[in-house]
Amino acid sequence: MKIGNIVFADPFVSLAPLAGYGDTAFRRLCREYGASLTVTEMVSVKGLVYGNEKTATLLTTAPCEKPSCVQLFGSDPEFFRKALSIGTLDGFDIIDINMGCPVPKVTKCGEGSALMNDPGRAADIVRACCDSSGGRPVTVKHRLGFDDDKIVAPGFAAKMQEAGAAAVTVHGRTSRQGYGGVADWDAIAEVAEAVTIPVIGNGDITSIDDAVRKISKYGCAGASIGRGALGRPYVFSDSPRDRVKTILRHIRYALSYMPESVAVRTMRKHICKYLAGVPGTKELRLKVNGVESADELIAGIKTLEEPLC
Ligand SMILES: Cc1cc2nc3c(=O)[nH]c(=O)nc-3n(C[C@H](O)[C@H](O)[C@H](O)COP(=O)(O)O)c2cc1C
Repeated sequence: MKIGNIVFADPFVSLAPLAGYGDTAFRRLCREYGASLTVTEMVSVKGLVYGNEKTATLLTTAPCEKPSCVQLFGSDPEFFRKALSIGTLDGFDIIDINMGCPVPKVTKCGEGSALMNDPGRAADIVRACCDSSGGRPVTVKHRLGFDDDKIVAPGFAAKMQEAGAAAVTVHGRTSRQGYGGVADWDAIAEVAEAVTIPVIGNGDITSIDDAVRKISKYGCAGASIGRGALGRPYVFSDSPRDRVKTILRHIRYALSYMPESVAVRTMRKHICKYLAGVPGTKELRLKVNGVESADELIAGIKTLEEPLC
């Protein structure tokens, strides 16, 4: 599997970008458990150009995140060009463009999945990024289409390829579907038929075996896991893991990249995911939601039984 001139071992199974969860501590864990690639949370090109401080923190990566990939969102090709020329993104190896976000705050500005309704502009953005990326591969993550009755992904992906995209990740839902229903992998297979660049299939994968099966059944070059990795960073490996040790390691990583108050708040969200559906943990979940210090958080997790998952 190759993205531009970057070679990945097979099977290629990456962590999908996850705003609000996919910070560098979580991504580091996923890499250590075997994710082929991890992608930053979506970063606004306007935020980058205007030097927004919060935007800058989204760009932190762990040394093990190599090759590295940043995901950008916006609607104006010139902002993408500028964002790539100010130097802040020079450390990234792959530039990914978000054309799949369904959130109205984003789409009403013509960003995210709204670009699927404006393929000309989407192609201009890819061209602007290719012109200013210094030879680094530019990739696109998109959906099947914007509206349910208009599946445009095969033609759209072909346009992105023509504009210079080195790979596409296709989430098998329309924007209107949000995260509901079931991902349509037959439609993803049609995209893989329509282009020669690698297609990374995405939607509803729950295990590494499932990813490998889908890659081969639907003719994809790789697969990408989103929600299936939340609270389960070990989804990228095929052996059972010690949940308590994983959470404690996750807390340690969060503390090494973030101020304690931010790490604790972030970890509360992640711990909810780790404990979702685990019998007998309701009390611990409630307790964790009220803790303010890392010591309290760690003590709470150490009371957890049932280590293997
Ligand atoms: C909480 C959350 C945050 C997400 N953030 C992003 C994002 O920043 N960029 C992006 O392209 N997709 C984002 N997505 C979409 C996922 O990357 C992925 O395409 C989608 O969840 C389908 O894959 P899955 O079924 O494996 O979760 C997000 C999804 C969720 C649930």
